[in-house]
Amino acid sequence: MTGEVVLEAQNLVRHYRVRRGLIGGHATVQALTGASFTLARGRTLACVGESGCGKSTLARLITLIEPPTSGRLLIDGQDVTTADRARRKALRQAVQIVFQDPYGSLNPRKKVGTILEEPLVINTRLSAAERRARAEAMMAKVGLRPEYYARYPHMFSGGQRQRIAIARALMLRPRILVADEPVSALDVSIRAQVLNLLMDLQEEFDLAYLFISHDLSVVRHIADEVMVMYLGRPVEQGAAASIFAAPRHPYTQALLASTPAVDPTRRRKRIPLKGELPSPLDPPPGCAFHRRCLFATDICGRERPAARSFDGRLVACHHAEAIAAGTAAVRTRDHASAV
Ligand SMILES: Nc1ncnc2c1ncn2[C@@H]1O[C@H](COP(=O)(O)OP(=O)(O)OP(=O)(O)O)[C@@H](O)[C@H]1O
Ligand code: SF4
Ligand SMILES: [Mg+2]
Repeated sequence: MTGEVVLEAQNLVRHYRVRRGLIGGHATVQALTGASFTLARGRTLACVGESGCGKSTLARLITLIEPPTSGRLLIDGQDVTTADRARRKALRQAVQIVFQDPYGSLNPRKKVGTILEEPLVINTRLSAAERRARAEAMMAKVGLRPEYYARYPHMFSGGQRQRIAIARALMLRPRILVADEPVSALDVSIRAQVLNLLMDLQEEFDLAYLFISHDLSVVRHIADEVMVMYLGRPVEQGAAASIFAAPRHPYTQALLASTPAVDPTRRRKRIPLKGELPSPLDPPPGCAFHRRCLFATDICGRERPAARSFDGRLVACHHAEAIAAGTAAVRTRDHASAV
């Protein structure tokens, strides 16, 4: 049933312990510092943000490739972290992933048919003939010709390889598909085809998508909801239509301004994103965006803004109201020296 919640993330956190190069000792990378959201059947949540903001880390938690450092993950209402092994295995099958790189993600020594049937060999008791029938049916659904069954991945273009990867991800009939930058490595000319395929498959299988991208022009075509991440944390979250029409967090505004094709307010004067993403090894105090933000005040450098409801979405910004009303002071000179 479209709309039914199939996955719920509650305050997911993921830290990595790393060695500090020449200095010695260890440090903690705060890759993801508190993401909460739900995924529903037939719907797409897009997760967007700059490189390093924690998108792929989130993908690894959602697909149970890695456990969270803290927080809870519920699939079909069941807590994954406390489920027993058999249950975890079943839940793991419900979530599949398509990666960015269609060259690295397919084994070059295996034929397409073998690649598609592998999940069935491991997880089902289907006969060889049944597996082949399922693989061929899925190939038809993703637009691959039947004769490709016996070919190797290197014989295909990036777009076709991504179709193979999508087919493989759907072989176990998952309810949730995580797509981590699925079209970023593809030629611009074929991106739309792959996005359309993903949308058709979503409708056919009533799939819930977590669609990860740094590119808002891609997200606009596919998202029902958007979660904008900054340095491991969601900063704005809500219906895609309202966020694209009227972004409320300064970071979302800057991201949109740097994607001219999708900025509905580009006639308004906006100063695009400047400066570097801070390091998740040493996140700034207060609002992580304050050194790049045009509207930052003293409190922004001291207190981390909690995500709160504003204008029909969640926004983590101390000054969201004043910015929306156009009454927030812009710190042009400070900003110039800070970046
Ligand atoms: N296994 C790991 N060990 C240490 N640090 C990691 C590990 N995985 C990710 N990180 C760090 O966590 C942060 C988030 O990384 P992540 O790959 O999730 O970002 P991303 O948003 O997917 O970036 P991109 O758009 O480049 O794919 C980065 O600073 C990254 O260096
Ligand atoms: S809390 Fe302050 S620094 Fe952070 S986005 Fe809002 S205005 Fe900018
Ligand atoms: Mg990534």
